[in-house]
Amino acid sequence: MHGEEEATTVEVDPLTTAFPEVPILVCGEHVRAGDDSGGVASCKPGPCTTVCRMSVSPAAAAAPSTLPPVAADLDDVVVLGVPFWGWQIALAAAGVIVLLLLARTIWTPSPRSLRAWALGNIVVNAGIAVTGAVVRVTSSGLGCSEWPRCTPESFVPTNTGHTAFNAAVEFGNRTLTFLVLVVGVITLLAVLRSVPRRRDLTLMAAIIPGGVLGQGVVGGITVWTDLHPASVATHFLLSMVMVFVTIALYVRLQEPQGKPEVSVTPMLHVTSVALVVIGFLLLIAGTMTTGTGPHGGDASAPRWDLPLENVTRVHSVLAWLCLIGALAATVMAHRTGARRSVRLAATALLVLTVVQGTLGYVQYAFALPEYLVVLHVLGSGLTWIAISRLYFSTTRLVPDGEKLIDDPVARTEEHAPAEPAPER
Ligand code: HEM
Repeated sequence: MHGEEEATTVEVDPLTTAFPEVPILVCGEHVRAGDDSGGVASCKPGPCTTVCRMSVSPAAAAAPSTLPPVAADLDDVVVLGVPFWGWQIALAAAGVIVLLLLARTIWTPSPRSLRAWALGNIVVNAGIAVTGAVVRVTSSGLGCSEWPRCTPESFVPTNTGHTAFNAAVEFGNRTLTFLVLVVGVITLLAVLRSVPRRRDLTLMAAIIPGGVLGQGVVGGITVWTDLHPASVATHFLLSMVMVFVTIALYVRLQEPQGKPEVSVTPMLHVTSVALVVIGFLLLIAGTMTTGTGPHGGDASAPRWDLPLENVTRVHSVLAWLCLIGALAATVMAHRTGARRSVRLAATALLVLTVVQGTLGYVQYAFALPEYLVVLHVLGSGLTWIAISRLYFSTTRLVPDGEKLIDDPVARTEEHAPAEPAPER
């Protein structure tokens, strides 16, 4: 990364509105390729005194800026007389109102509406992990530098000391949390309203909003530790645990109350369990790669002092193990005539692992461009969904006193006969 061309060091005042185009920006000890936002992003709220050092080629330093001036604060962005953050709050409030209107179904929950809410939880919990990645790669992690307030003085982004863009991205992600929470609470109420009320479903549905509140705490710690990679990683991994629970809820809603019994060959079930373990280790290794790499969420964010190449290698070895497991599961699912849901989940996992792995190598080869990193996080959410779906489809709930019928006709059905949750 370091210059083939001779580099010179210039001091840049972050409050000046434009920077020369630079190939390398050095903030503290961290070196970022092509990062043009770090000068501003490293400022703390309040009077901004931080000065970043930029190593630039003499030609680049002399060249006129090609970057547009940045707005000093989100307050400067006013649309129709309302600050931009006001529009963000209004949008989130509108989303909550729409959800509450849709939620009238919770007073008379049907199996269909329950499943729809469970699916909604999968989407919003995986989705917020992706928007979190957008916060990271745009260096917006400290666009609001406090929690639960945005700045020491205000709940909304005024005088953040960061660019309007950074503050809008971080504040937008915070407002999305309310939507995730509302979907979780509505689902819990719907499960509580269904008759008969099932303890297993109630427990899963209760974990979901509880997890969102837990994410609020982890999010706060993340901000207070200036985006420490351990905290950022925990934030992401907790989202993946939530996705696992939401999928359990979605799958078990379609089955009668009972005990889980293995509904595929023992080998296929063991492979699905191994995939959950490998998959989660793969996610952990991914977050370690991120914690070592350049996308910390802010130019001043602490980084793990590990060799990026080696961490990435560990991460990719786990991806290869995942690929082998997915291939084995797909072959077994098709050869042993497993139910359609099992075959679909295994095949989807195989395809997603290939795509995601390819994306991983491509983003590494191209020095981690932001948009590819966001796609990679989206892909990791989808891969994890497929792993979880495969795992839960290898067992079925069987009511007490009944036996799992290995009916070849039922095997071809997406769902074996399940006791539908009665309508009220
Ligand atoms: C199924 C396969 C894979 C999955 C599920 C996966 C998942 C992940 C996850 C969860 C992260 C962390 C995201 C975050 O903290 O926000 C990550 C980061 C990363 N992955 Fe993968 N990954 C896979 C394959 C690969 C492969 C084969 C490579 C090849 C080198 C790779 C390279 C990377 C790199 C370089 C990062 C750091 C990106 C950054 O700076 O944020 N991944 N991956």
